[in-house]
Order: sequence, then C-alpha cells, then structure tokens
Amino acid sequence: MCGIVGYVGDKQAAPILLDGLKRLEYRGYDSAGIAIHNCCCTNLIKTEGKIKVLEEKLGGAYPEGHVGIGHTRWATHGRPSNVNAHPHTDCTGDFIVVHNGIIENYQELKEWLQSEGHVFKSETDTEVVPHMIEHFYDGDLFETMKKTISKLEGSFALGVISRREPGTIVAARKSSPLIAGLGEGENFIASDIPAILQHTRKVYILEDGEMVKITKDKVEVTDFEGNPVAKSIFEVKWDAVAAEKGGYPHFMLKEIHEQPKAFKDTMAGRILPEKGEIKLDDVHLSKEYLQGIKKIFIVACGTAYHAGMVGKYVIEKLTRVPVEVDIASEFRYRDPMIDKNTLVIIISQSGETADTLAALRESKKLGARVLAITNVVGSSVSREADDIIYTWAGPEIAVASTKAYSTQLIALDFIALYIARTLGRICEKDFQEITSAMKNLPDQAKIILGHEDKIKSLAQKFFDREDVFYIGRGLDYPLSLEGALKLKEISYIHAEAYAAGELKHGTLALIEEGVPVIAPVTQEHLFEKTLSNIKEVKAREGFVVALANEGNEEIKKSVDDVIYIPKTHPILTPILAVIPMQLLAYYAAVARGCDVDKPRNLAKSVTVE
Ligand code: F6R
Repeated sequence: MCGIVGYVGDKQAAPILLDGLKRLEYRGYDSAGIAIHNCCCTNLIKTEGKIKVLEEKLGGAYPEGHVGIGHTRWATHGRPSNVNAHPHTDCTGDFIVVHNGIIENYQELKEWLQSEGHVFKSETDTEVVPHMIEHFYDGDLFETMKKTISKLEGSFALGVISRREPGTIVAARKSSPLIAGLGEGENFIASDIPAILQHTRKVYILEDGEMVKITKDKVEVTDFEGNPVAKSIFEVKWDAVAAEKGGYPHFMLKEIHEQPKAFKDTMAGRILPEKGEIKLDDVHLSKEYLQGIKKIFIVACGTAYHAGMVGKYVIEKLTRVPVEVDIASEFRYRDPMIDKNTLVIIISQSGETADTLAALRESKKLGARVLAITNVVGSSVSREADDIIYTWAGPEIAVASTKAYSTQLIALDFIALYIARTLGRICEKDFQEITSAMKNLPDQAKIILGHEDKIKSLAQKFFDREDVFYIGRGLDYPLSLEGALKLKEISYIHAEAYAAGELKHGTLALIEEGVPVIAPVTQEHLFEKTLSNIKEVKAREGFVVALANEGNEEIKKSVDDVIYIPKTHPILTPILAVIPMQLLAYYAAVARGCDVDKPRNLAKSVTVE
C-alpha cells in the first residue's frame, strides 16, 4: 500500500504533488519522492522518511516543471530506504514510474530483463516496470504501457511519465485504487480523492482493468486493450476542510469528537418509527431470501473485526440466526463452509483492505450473497458487494480507526433490526425501544466527550506502564479487545484483552501491585460475574478503572476509579463505551510523545496481504 499522485497543467507541479502526497500519507509514509519534467529533463528527488523529510531535502527549492508524479510508500518488497523509494526509472532515466500494489511475478521479469542487459538499482518489485517500458517502447507510451501491463501479475495502480512524451501521464489500475481528477486546463491522477480535492471536485473512479492517458486538456479512459470506456463523472460532495484537522492537534482527536455527527449522519433517514422499519437504500434482502438463510458470516480485519464480534452478539440476539465471525486473512484460506444459503457481511472502513476484498470475492465465488459495510463510496468493496450500508463517518485520516468503528456498530444494529423485522422476530415494543435509544446516541456521545479531562487525567496515571489489561464479559469483551488494540497501536504499551472469566486461567499470574486493568461493566445482567473477576484483580493489588453505566454506585466500592457512560439499551452500550476507550488510548499516546496519527509500522489502508 502506498499513495500516488500525478499532475499535468500550467501550474508548477512540485507544490501540488507535495501537498497531494501529504494528504495521502495515511496510505503509508516510510519514504517519499517526486519526479518533475522541465522541458526535456526530469528532476527526480526521493528519500526515506515522511513527506516532511522530502521537503527538507528540497530545502524550499522546488524543481520547476508543469508535469510530475509523486509517491508516498509503505514498504513491501525492499526495506524503506532512499534507493527503494519511488519514483523508479529505467537505465536511461527516460521512463519514470510510481506504483501502489505488488508485482507478484517481478522476480521472473527481473531475471529476464537482466539477461537483456538491464541493471537494477533497488530491491523493489516496482523497478521492473520502467525497465519493461524501456524495453517495449515503440514511440507511443500508451501503447507501450498496454504491452507492459499485459505481462504483470499482481496488483497495481501505476503512474508513468516519460521525457520522450512530455506533457502526458499514463496510469493503470488493477486491484489498487486509482482516480483521475478533472480540472480546467489541468488534470490529475491519485490514489484517493483528498490528494486532489484542493483543485477539483470532479473525478473519474477507475475500475480494475482500466487505464487512463492524461494531458492538460484531455483525459482518456480505456480498458487494457485500449477500447475507450465511457466514464461518468463522480462529483465529490465533501468539504475540503472535512479532510483537514479542523483545529485539533491530531486527526484522531478530531475524529473522536466527530462521533456525535457521524452517528447522526449514519442514522439519518434510516429509522422509520411510524412504519416500524429500518430503511436501507442499497440493501435488498427479501423475506424469502432471509427465510432461506442458514447462517451469517461476518468477515473483516482489525478494528472492523472487533465491530463484527459485537455484530455477532447483536444479530444472534435479535434474529436468532447463527452468526460466525472470522478474520479475513484466515477466512480466505480455510475453505469456509458457505453456499447460497449463507449471508456474508463484510466490514471495511476503507473498502480496499486486500484480505477483506479477497474474502468478499471468495464468498461470491462460493455462491453467498455479500452485504458490505464500508465508509468509502466508490471503494472496491462497495462496488463488488451485492448490498451496501455506508457508514457516513466522513473521511477517516488517523490510522487508528475511531468514528468508522462506532458507526460500523450502528450499521450492524441496523442489519440486526432489518433482518429481525423482516423475519418477524422482534416485537414492535422492542423495535421502538431500541430505535428510540439509538436516536439519543449522538447527544449521549457529546456527554461522554464532556468528560474528556477526567479521562485524560486517568490516562496520565498509567501512560508510563509496560502492560495494561482489559477485561469484560458479553458485549464488554469485544469492547475490551478494541480498547486494547487502540492503546497498543498508538501508544506502543503492551495491552491485552480477555473475556473476564478467562483471566484466572493463566493471565492472572501477571497481575501485581499497580498493574492497570480496564474493566467495562456495562452489561448489567453480567455485572456480578465481572465484579468477582475485578475482585480477583484487586486481591493482587492491580489498579482497576471500571467503565460503568450512569447510576451504578456499587462498582465504586471495588475499583480505583470509574468512568461513567449514559444509560442506553444494553445492545447499544459498545457504541458509547468505546469513546472513553479511544480517549484513554489517545491521551496515553500523547503523554508518551507518540506520533498519534501515524503510528510506527502501520498504514491506514492495507491493500497488500
Ligand atoms: C485499527 C485499524 C485497523 C483497521 C483494519 C481494517 O485502528 O484501523 O485495524 O480496522 O486495518 O481496515 P478496513 O476497515 O479499512 O478494512
């Protein structure tokens, strides 16, 4: 996974590319580079490190030129280094390439090119591409690209410039996202919309198997055979500032604070209380179809997988249809038992996660219907699923997922209610009770955000610890998993979550004086049970912070501190309770001086296996 951007027009290309790359840093940021054409020469500057390092290297002296391509990298083949950074060139330096994806047959291609006399500089898979273009070049870059990509296996979004054809960028897409931005006397390519939103709101979203040739006045899209493709323009509705930090020190904090709005947007128009219905525009699951369903699979990665675990509890409770949850990278290789009577729910914020996308394709191949929950309109997942529920959380830039996760939970509640209602398995009273509780969530989220200072001071009590444990039962268990993931990924504190009843089967051995244990007790029917586990921790002098429903005074007697959340319907508590978990992780990471929005070794959108 990486980010690519390209510009051709009358303006200076370098500042546009650098700005675009900064907005794509969420896709990876271990090295960066740009290549700019100026008359007949090309300036190529690249470096290990973030865009900031590239800017420092340029020292304010941007190379002049009106055509260029840029890249921000997340290493796959070849460690992060100056030489492995993109763009890459052939031996002559005439052909310059940026790439997002993996060329799976690069080894074989490299050996062939080496036998033809090509000399390679980097350890990357990408470098075969400029050498192949050099090898095949017949005076027409576009035709040469067609020939080159016909030999490539794997995934790619490629952007290519050549000083032999100045004023043109050729780009191609297979299994890695790519868009073309349409301007006035200028055009763009990019991995994603934020990179070009400053300049245009009109884009073509390229599909797999499509390529594009752009000059300053023209954008021509074809398939890999060169047949023209008529594209419709996608008008971006987002506000440009929606992709900026909006005054917060980090995107993550901004996105945590955006949750009340994200909840409202995700619910807007979807609850029809007077009809006792959930309205999901892009979901078409008939009663006959649902009656035939034997099982539901939920498949996702990371935080989205934790959302799936919450979904299992809720869907089984409301619909009585058995639900299995799986990690996408496991699911795709374990010969899953699914058929046309299985509904597969795919959850992916980005809609581009390679393992999740592969699980979607495998499910469809096996005859299942796929319902996707995603945050990105036009993403691969959204285009390939049979039914879609968008989480209207807006762009999520921080690597650690927050508002996308909580809105995924809302979407899963909608699925549960939709199926339960269609199958007649939920009574009117319960439906009304849950949906009216849902409507209170945005205001209740605001109340929790009002307790930010208290949560911050709690984080300051444990930020310097080596280990933190999370324990919970029922819906508090996936909540604990998500809390622990948030803490470890951004603060680098070792954090582990357990079903509270499991602690005594081994991990209790690690509890000693002062070890922090975060214990959500939001599930009232399980309260006494979790309380016993908390007491086991306290008996070993652990430092326990509970997360409880407003009004639970009992818990105070047994723990060191309590964070309260407003009361809601029990199945909705994870949507609210995750907010303090996110804030705890955030403030612990800030206290440790971590790069909160861009944690080490991670990237926002994982488009490789
Ligand atoms: C963690 C996080 C990741 C993602 C995972 C799946 O905070 O964000 O664990 O949830 O990489 O990404 P999507 O949802 O884009 O498929």
